[in-house]
Amino acid sequence: MGAHLRSDDGVLIGREHEQEQVQDLLAALPHKGRLLHLSGAPGIGKSAVLRFAAHEATRQDICVLSTTWAPAERQVPHAALHRLLHPLLPHSGDLPPRERGTLDAAFGADPAAPAPRDLARPRCAC
Ligand SMILES: Nc1ncnc2c1ncn2[C@@H]1O[C@H](COP(=O)(O)OP(=O)(O)OP(=O)(O)O)[C@@H](O)[C@H]1O
Ligand SMILES: [Mg+2]
Repeated sequence: MGAHLRSDDGVLIGREHEQEQVQDLLAALPHKGRLLHLSGAPGIGKSAVLRFAAHEATRQDICVLSTTWAPAERQVPHAALHRLLHPLLPHSGDLPPRERGTLDAAFGADPAAPAPRDLARPRCAC
């Protein structure tokens, strides 16, 4: 008996247009990053598309990072971005100056805007 794949495994039934968009987005990497904005009624399948995208990316050896946001974090600037990118900060030196500057500004590396304690370590500058 063959393995039964559930939608939780990234199998998307139908949604050909969304599947094509995800595949186009992945094919453009790593040279061209793009954004796919999913919106729709509750239960319509937004998370299913996301799972499909993550599954496809992993299958193509593309690193997948994810994060969440809670309304209580409204007053904490870039909280979700911080959680998303914190594991990669030691590699920020690999970024082109413009992107690195943007990241530094977002994470408070600008002396005019003191960084959160856990981002102020020298490793951010390596
Ligand atoms: N195209 C699809 N193929 C397979 N399963 C699907 C598809 N669309 C939705 N589902 C399944 O239907 C259920 C609801 O979908 P999902 O959780 O993705 O909706 P959602 O839009 O993210 O909902 P919410 O707005 O509540 O977060 C899930 O079990 C999901 O796996
Ligand atoms: Mg969802």
